[in-house]
Amino acid sequence: MITCNGNIQADAIVVGIDKTKQLMQHIPKEDATLIYKYLETRSSNLAFASVQVFHCVCEERVKVYFLIGQENGMSKTRDFSDYTAARQVMALAMKEHCQSLAVYVDTLSMRIETLIDGLLDRNYEFIQYMKNKERCVVEKINVITSSLQVKEINSLCYKYMSMYEGIYKARDLVNMPPNELTPRKFVDLMATILQGGGGKVEYFNKWSLEKMKMGGISAVGKGSMNPPQLVVIQYLGDPDNPDKLGLIGKGVTYDSGGLSLKSAANQEFMKDDMAGAATVVGIIKALQYLKYPVNVMGVIPLVENIPSSMSYHVDDIITMYDGTTVEIKNTDAEGRLILADALSYAQEKGATRLIDLATLTGACVTALGTIRSGMVGNNQEWMNQFFCVAEQNHEKVWQFPFDAEYGESLKSQVADLKNIGGRDAGAITAGMFLNHFVRADIPWLHVDIAGTAFCEQADKTGFYGATGVGIKSILELLRSGSIEKNNQ
Ligand code: BES
Ligand code: ZN
Ligand code: ZN
Repeated sequence: MITCNGNIQADAIVVGIDKTKQLMQHIPKEDATLIYKYLETRSSNLAFASVQVFHCVCEERVKVYFLIGQENGMSKTRDFSDYTAARQVMALAMKEHCQSLAVYVDTLSMRIETLIDGLLDRNYEFIQYMKNKERCVVEKINVITSSLQVKEINSLCYKYMSMYEGIYKARDLVNMPPNELTPRKFVDLMATILQGGGGKVEYFNKWSLEKMKMGGISAVGKGSMNPPQLVVIQYLGDPDNPDKLGLIGKGVTYDSGGLSLKSAANQEFMKDDMAGAATVVGIIKALQYLKYPVNVMGVIPLVENIPSSMSYHVDDIITMYDGTTVEIKNTDAEGRLILADALSYAQEKGATRLIDLATLTGACVTALGTIRSGMVGNNQEWMNQFFCVAEQNHEKVWQFPFDAEYGESLKSQVADLKNIGGRDAGAITAGMFLNHFVRADIPWLHVDIAGTAFCEQADKTGFYGATGVGIKSILELLRSGSIEKNNQ
């Protein structure tokens, strides 16, 4: 819960520190004096975005301060160091078991959006499966300001709380182990998450998918005892408007590789192969609170990619939902097959724009590491917009080249397409495969989150696990109205 100018009592207080002694005007004089005394011999602690804990005793009470350095700052915000500082403050608050935080924003030079974003991003833990772990998340954040913008700040608080409501739910899904989160369980949990928020949901089971000739989803799902599912969610915030964003998320609840089995090392973390699907659920959840006047259709194909006597084979030729035939050359390139069917379906059901999110290729991780998501698409202007909103929301993407020549490696001797290209440019050829299923007049963005969806090694604030990447950027794209304007 975030409030503005609410109850001043809090377990810890967050302030910015610099040489000007401005703190005196904001917090009790005795506390400020002690803090400046402490800083006298530690001038390096004033450095922009440095974070430290300060304990003091005043009026027989122990007080906890989190001090954020403010010197020589503004030029450095481009590297997200202010955002990281906010995340670090939250990590410390959780470690100190604070239940409430009071933040004196007038002492900080960072944007208030950055502050709230960073604090909420870090204020999450996944402890469902730990028996005796105490909950450490901060329950209350109170933003204190003497400026007149209380109303604006309140609406920012609402916006970020709504976004993070969706992000935390998405993270929970991605963090769940694959023995628990089967396609069926994903559907059940999704129904609970979205319950009561309005919107129509349709479910297609294994038999409907076969009947509908969803050849991609059916083939990949065939090997598993946990049958495939397709879920379609409609959020109609502006029903009279024909514009509709189709949001497609890869939902492979476990990717062992299938018969083209992954090595043991490469199977690790493959529970996160449904992060795209979770992102779509998170976005719709947030929209239920934010009530943006936009139309979104979430299309989520769910499968488990597992080898068995029923699995699809290398050398199979399958027929996709749109009629394209595909020669399977590697059963581990399964994501593009289920996404292609979902993309075709979204277009058939009237999507006027498309975004798909997928942990699609190891090649994307090789190219960009865990810092940036990869992006390709068929509309440069829209990709530029996405790049900008992503950056503003502390989510980084990078566009890959997308020349038609890259598509040539997908040519098959016996079918319309192969499901893999050569060894080279794997993230791009995967995008090319998807491009085949998208009409050229429908603006489409593909975001490869293979490297960014899950933090496999705790970062410098100690954060580990699912990130929920993509949710903020897409919500911001929807809010800014760039979805409606057809600027082809
Ligand atoms: N789910 C993987 C991609 C992945 C790799 C996600 C690492 C997260 C971290 C995907 O289905 C896959 O296995 N792709 C293959 C494609 C190849 C066979 C053309 C890959 O990247 O190796
Ligand atoms: Zn795979
Ligand atoms: Zn996969």
